Amino acid sequence: MMRAKILGLGSYVPDRVVTNDELRFLDDQHVRGATPTIDTSDEWIRARSGIEERRYVDNDDAWSCSDLALRAAKRALDDAGCDAKDLDCIILATLSPDIHFPGTAVFLQSKLGIDGMEGCACFDIRQQCSGFIYGLQMADAFVRGGTYRRVLVVGSELHSHSLDYSTRGRDVTVLFGDGAGAVIVGPVETDDPREGILYTKVGADGSGAGDLYLKVFEVKHRPYVWYDATKREEFRTMYPQMNGKKVFLNAVRAMNLSTRAALEKTGLGWGDVDWFVPHQANLRINEAVVQYAEIPPEKVLNSIQRYGNTTAASVPLTLDHHRKAGKVKKGDLVVSTVFGAGFTWGSAIFRV
Ligand code: ACO
Repeated sequence: MMRAKILGLGSYVPDRVVTNDELRFLDDQHVRGATPTIDTSDEWIRARSGIEERRYVDNDDAWSCSDLALRAAKRALDDAGCDAKDLDCIILATLSPDIHFPGTAVFLQSKLGIDGMEGCACFDIRQQCSGFIYGLQMADAFVRGGTYRRVLVVGSELHSHSLDYSTRGRDVTVLFGDGAGAVIVGPVETDDPREGILYTKVGADGSGAGDLYLKVFEVKHRPYVWYDATKREEFRTMYPQMNGKKVFLNAVRAMNLSTRAALEKTGLGWGDVDWFVPHQANLRINEAVVQYAEIPPEKVLNSIQRYGNTTAASVPLTLDHHRKAGKVKKGDLVVSTVFGAGFTWGSAIFRV
């Protein structure tokens, strides 16, 4: 029987570490000044989110989402022992695309050196913090159905260029960081139902779309991008807007239900599972999910303390972080559950 399997894993974060204390003094070029720009504190950020620091690209460099994705993709390819030219499909999940169109996956394809008339299929998906699990579901179906044999699923985010470095945006700005994570998915012949990717299920509730969004442009305007501070509050267009409490409550509810359903449908218990990897939006969300879904705390992997919320990158980045630390081993069984803007959510069970 043909199943899909994760063949390789990789991640990338920029070198620059921004602590909670340093963040308070940054201007929108990420330069540290003498006086605070954001009225916040290390204590507030740690207490409400668990975040201690995050990574930012160096603002002097011409970084884009596809540059971060490229570095994570190359590491995943190395880990899988394959070459970029073996890929027949790229699925790239992001909420910080290089430009409006074309999608970021084609920029990544070109940077991987696999463009030209033989270039592989490229998909961009826009499911925010749920993007990686949505992408994994697509890759699983493509591989099991025989459409593609080597699929790169990559989540990549360059948040630091789109945050409001003033007190006005502090609820959002303190949460996010830059990074990318990737896996290579391919086929495996096996009769073992516990091999490879065992389960994926995703969902969405569009009534939550107004609770977490970044407009930047609106197609109904001429031109699409309209910065007119006299007619509307300009910052609502330029920076992410979030109803934090509503997002928090919906995240806990959806992640609890989604995780419970994953175990029920597969007939697995926590004794069968090595790790639970939740999306890294807020450590307090994850602690509540662990409590409600009755997950053994020693099986939970987080990385938000180090990287903040890296949205579509957070699950593969967390897995790779803990693999490098010697915790996650090849073949371990992972339950992963995500929630993000949309609202969107999903769970997957797979071996790394
Ligand atoms: N520093 C200091 N004070 C702050 C900050 C900050 N960074 N941000 C907000 N405050 C203030 C508020 O202004 C408010 O002050 P007031 O009482 O004088 O009005 C006070 O702190 C409390 O604010 P709340 O919004 O009630 O704080 P809350 O406890 O809800 O925590 C938080 C805010 C951390 C944002 C929380 O709501 C949260 O984590 N929500 C979910 C966020 C999330 O997961 N987002 C990502 C989703 S995934 C995706 O797809 C991108």
